[in-house]
Amino acid sequence: MIALVQDPIAGQLNATERELLTAAIRSAPRQPKAALEVGTWLGGGSTAHILEALQSNGAGHLWGIEADRAIYEQMIRNLEKAVPLALHRFTPLFGFSQRVIPSWLAQQGSGFEIDFAFLDGGNNPMEQIIEFRLLDPRMPIGAVLMAHDAKLRKGKWLVPYLACLDHWTSEVHDISEEGLLRARKIAAHPSKKSLHRARRALLKMRCAPIEVAAAITPRLICLFVFNLLPRRFSRSLSDGRK
Ligand SMILES: C[S@@+](CC[C@H](N)C(=O)[O-])C[C@H]1O[C@@H](n2cnc3c(N)ncnc32)[C@H](O)[C@@H]1O
Repeated sequence: MIALVQDPIAGQLNATERELLTAAIRSAPRQPKAALEVGTWLGGGSTAHILEALQSNGAGHLWGIEADRAIYEQMIRNLEKAVPLALHRFTPLFGFSQRVIPSWLAQQGSGFEIDFAFLDGGNNPMEQIIEFRLLDPRMPIGAVLMAHDAKLRKGKWLVPYLACLDHWTSEVHDISEEGLLRARKIAAHPSKKSLHRARRALLKMRCAPIEVAAAITPRLICLFVFNLLPRRFSRSLSDGRK
C-alpha cells in the first residue's frame, strides 16, 4: 500500500466511503485493469484513493474526467505531489463526461473493457444515466460500478433504473448523507422485460411535474430565483438535500 506523501489534498467522500471504494478494487475477484472516474474534483477524494488501490494491486490504470478547467489543472498538480508513485497509472481527461466518454472509448479500440467505474460528476440526474448507458456495453460480467450521491439528486434516477435491470445487482450503502451505490454486472445483457421496466421507470421519473417544470423554465429565470435564495438553501436545493 502507498501512502499519500503530502498533507492530505482536498477531496470529498467520508472515510467509510473511501474504504468501500478501495476495497472494491483491492478485493475484486478480477483485478481491475481499466478504471474510469467521472468528476475528480481536486483529486484528494476518490481519485487519489482509487490510484492508491490500483498501486497496491500492482496493476490497472485510471482515467479521470473533470469538466472544470481550473479544478482540472489544480487536480493534476495535487496528484503529482500526493501520489507520485501511482501517477503512471493515471490519465486525466478534460471535459464533460457526455462528450469525453464516447471519444475516449473510440480511441481505445473495440476489445477494450472497463472493469471499474465511479460516477461522481454533475447534479443533473440524467447525467449518471447517460454515463451508465455509454459504459455498460464496455463493462464485462464481474465489473463493478459505483456512484456517489445515490440518495441525492445526482443519483435519484440511476439507483431505481439500475434496480430494474436484471443484468446488474446493486445496493445503496447508507453510510453518509449522500449515499454510495455499488453494483456488479452479472450478465452481459438485460432481459427485454427488465429493460422495458427500466425505461418505463425512467420515463415516469422524467415526467414528474417538478422535472418538467425544471426542464422548461428558462435557465436565466432559474438562476435569478436561485440567486435570491440564501446560499446554503440554494445549494442544498440543487443537490437535492432535505
Ligand atoms: C462532487 S465533485 C467530485 C468529488 C470527487 N469525486 C471527490 O471524491 O473528491 C463533482 C465534480 O464533477 C465535475 N463535473 C460536473 N459535471 C461533470 C461532467 N458532466 N463531466 C465531468 N465532470 C463533471 C465538477 O466540476 C466537480 O469537480
